[in-house]
Amino acid sequence: MAGDLILGIETSCDETSAAVVAGGRYVKSNIIASQINLHREFGGVVPELASRKHLELLDRVIKRALEKAEVDFSDLSGIAVTYGPGLVGSLLIGIVAAKTLSWALGLPLIGVNHILGHIYSNLLEHPELEPPLLCLTVSGGHTDLLYTEEWGKYEILGRTRDDAAGESFDKVARFLGLGYPGGPAIERISETGDAERFSFPIADLGEDRFGFSFSGLKTAVINLAHNLEQKEGRVPEADIAASFQKTVVDILLEKVERALNDFPVDKVLLAGGVAANKYLRGRLGKMLRERGANLYYPSLEYCTDNAAMIAGAGYFLLNQGKTSSLDLDANPRLQL
Ligand code: KG4
Ligand code: ZN
Repeated sequence: MAGDLILGIETSCDETSAAVVAGGRYVKSNIIASQINLHREFGGVVPELASRKHLELLDRVIKRALEKAEVDFSDLSGIAVTYGPGLVGSLLIGIVAAKTLSWALGLPLIGVNHILGHIYSNLLEHPELEPPLLCLTVSGGHTDLLYTEEWGKYEILGRTRDDAAGESFDKVARFLGLGYPGGPAIERISETGDAERFSFPIADLGEDRFGFSFSGLKTAVINLAHNLEQKEGRVPEADIAASFQKTVVDILLEKVERALNDFPVDKVLLAGGVAANKYLRGRLGKMLRERGANLYYPSLEYCTDNAAMIAGAGYFLLNQGKTSSLDLDANPRLQL
């Protein structure tokens, strides 16, 4: 497997990460320096702090990724970097580093869409995976349901019109005072809550059969908590969190089930930070098993932001001739 080592760089949000991946599927190293503790006291990511921290850490993170993979720059075939979506200042740190390496080493530069990276993260642990398949990407910034007939070709069936699934976890957690990041906090407290206690409205999106909307749900949760606090003097956080989590999963499952009716595949991929949610995995896995399909998801390390998934996607883009020029710029609102 010579000549197919890609260095991946990911700095789109609050993880500084570099990885070396062979053949798009085999992880040689994946170094992640998380900034969660830096941002926790502010209840969310502070963009200016994030980019400064990326600048401080990236050199060392890249060096460690090469050391751990036991390779030199001269062994690489390309430099893949996230160029969007994400925080513009943070993206730029990774992009400048990648361009510098590409120019100095004479290696192809591969700009990678972060969401494409999340989708490919599944291949890192299931290298045998082959389309056709459906993929549900649920992260802090995105909720996309897509159909893939062959690697590199996607049909976007639906996406969110407002908040992303992870964003709704973060906002509800913040409102309930559960801390940051919100997804793991909601999942944890939900274990002690009654998910059937409250029912929340699910938006009817009419013709947009595979679309998502989470902002009405978030508002309903906040209104309920306000009302209960006024009436009863306390907020039953665990029951609200569990009922909210159940509703998010109901919404996601309904759309996947609908997509399976139109695209009867036997493989469904989960990707993005929310794919770490065990309750979601459990219910989606059960529904799919009943329909004779299998669920695939990455392990925790590859669910949330990491550079291995960027190197993985970068390999496939390189093979399709989709490289970038040194004019590559950050695109904070990039879509698939
Ligand atoms: O993919 P990711 O690391 O960053 C983005 O690309 O956005 O996803 C982060 C999102 C956050 O909204 C976080 O609250 C959510 O993933 N998340 C979870 C869980 N772990 C992370 N949501 C629900 N349950 C979890 N266990
Ligand atoms: Zn992400």
